[in-house]
Amino acid sequence: MSGSFVVLEGIDGSGTTTQASLLNSWLVEQGVPSRLTREPSDGPIGSLIRLILKGRIAGSPSSQPFDPRAVALLFAADRLDHIDTVIAPEVRHGTCVISDRYVASSLAYQSVDVDAEWVKSINLMARQPDLTIFLRVGAEAALERITKRQGLHRDLYETLIVQKKVAERYEALLADGAMANAKVLDGTKPVAELALEIRRVVAEQVLEVKRLSL
Ligand SMILES: Nc1ncnc2c1ncn2[C@@H]1O[C@H](COP(=O)(O)OP(=O)(O)O)[C@@H](O)[C@H]1O
Ligand SMILES: [Mg+2]
Repeated sequence: MSGSFVVLEGIDGSGTTTQASLLNSWLVEQGVPSRLTREPSDGPIGSLIRLILKGRIAGSPSSQPFDPRAVALLFAADRLDHIDTVIAPEVRHGTCVISDRYVASSLAYQSVDVDAEWVKSINLMARQPDLTIFLRVGAEAALERITKRQGLHRDLYETLIVQKKVAERYEALLADGAMANAKVLDGTKPVAELALEIRRVVAEQVLEVKRLSL
């Protein structure tokens, strides 16, 4: 039996990491083979991207930030490596692969600084997810969650203005049908309630099993 590929998307602080992990734990409990993964991936290119986003590696000359086009290319390269080494082999073996972020994150985040059509074009080789769950949370509410979580230690991206732009881009992607097999959920609901909704969607749309215990 072939597996499936499920993606969680949303702005920073929307809860994708929380819900991807809860979904994976539930699938394991249900005896469904599953694998939790994320983007940037844990592979070599993904690790490099994480260092860049944290500001721990500078561009060249060393005082300058990285060219956002170069970062967009790294994300696209990481994605193809992630597909080849994790996503495709696992799905072929019948696993439900859950990725915390995927192509839509590149389209929403990188297009803040880089031409959106170009970002789309460098991601054309990436396979489509079977289901993309988008957690809709307002920029202010999401930022409040992040501030609580991280205090002063913030990602480069995590400012309210950028959060708002990214939220707008996600909405545009949804309106254009550019987010593959998307299901929008209200990310402001309590964690447990949202987890239950996600289980229902995954059970019905991807696993096609309606009798798993929710
Ligand atoms: N539905 C929710 N309601 C309230 N707080 C939440 C919810 N989901 C996640 N959080 C909290 O918000 C913060 C960000 O969650 P996280 O899952 O890391 O978001 P993301 O991965 O989308 O940035 C964490 O402190 C988390 O505990
Ligand atoms: Mg996260």
